[in-house]
Amino acid sequence: MTNIKEQALALRRPVSEDGAAVFQLIRQCPPLDPNSLYCNLLQCSHFAATSVAAFDTDQLVGFISGYIIPDRPNTLFIWQVAVGETARGSGLATKMLHHIVQRPTCQAVTHMETTITQDNQASWALFERFADKIGAEVTSSVMFDRDTHFAGEHDSEHRVKIGPFHLNSEA
Ligand SMILES: CC(C)(COP(=O)(O)OP(=O)(O)OC[C@H]1O[C@@H](n2cnc3c(N)ncnc32)[C@H](O)[C@@H]1OP(=O)(O)O)[C@@H](O)C(=O)NCCC(=O)NCCS
Repeated sequence: MTNIKEQALALRRPVSEDGAAVFQLIRQCPPLDPNSLYCNLLQCSHFAATSVAAFDTDQLVGFISGYIIPDRPNTLFIWQVAVGETARGSGLATKMLHHIVQRPTCQAVTHMETTITQDNQASWALFERFADKIGAEVTSSVMFDRDTHFAGEHDSEHRVKIGPFHLNSEA
């Protein structure tokens, strides 16, 4: 149940000073893998142009980290999506995905990829509904396998590919 007011929400590029708050938010959003704080600092600096932070007044309530896949400039990879419990169910994650794709940095982007474990229903719903809303195709296949890649320590991660789409008015 959401208890944040739409008007109070502000979405912007993260800055390195947001890294510690991002670290806390990710820790509060299982099943996301917590990263090191150093990793969150890099997301908020080197990956800032393709990441977004959402604030309710001065509190961080949402964060997406992403990057353009180095040898595929048309593909935005979404690394992690986190929305604090009090801010869920109001379309914030969807809004943050749109926000990144519409940035000038993403003007060549026609596809989005992410990975999702089979049991993360909220994440499947987020990306499948996003694709549905923009009228893009969705395909999926295993990218990182439980045994081959995770030595049995983590569920398989399915690569979800959305596209083609043209959402960037700068393109
Ligand atoms: C997944 C998560 C980011 C969704 O955030 P959110 O702001 O509530 O998502 P939205 O409101 O934009 O919802 C997008 C769609 O997914 C659906 N959805 C969201 N959570 C859902 C759930 N738990 N079960 C089923 N559907 C769900 C919504 O109904 C919506 O569909 P609609 O437009 O048809 O109504 C949030 O629940 C979260 O942070 N979870 C923990 C971390 C995680 O699993 N992250 C994703 C892995 S990358």
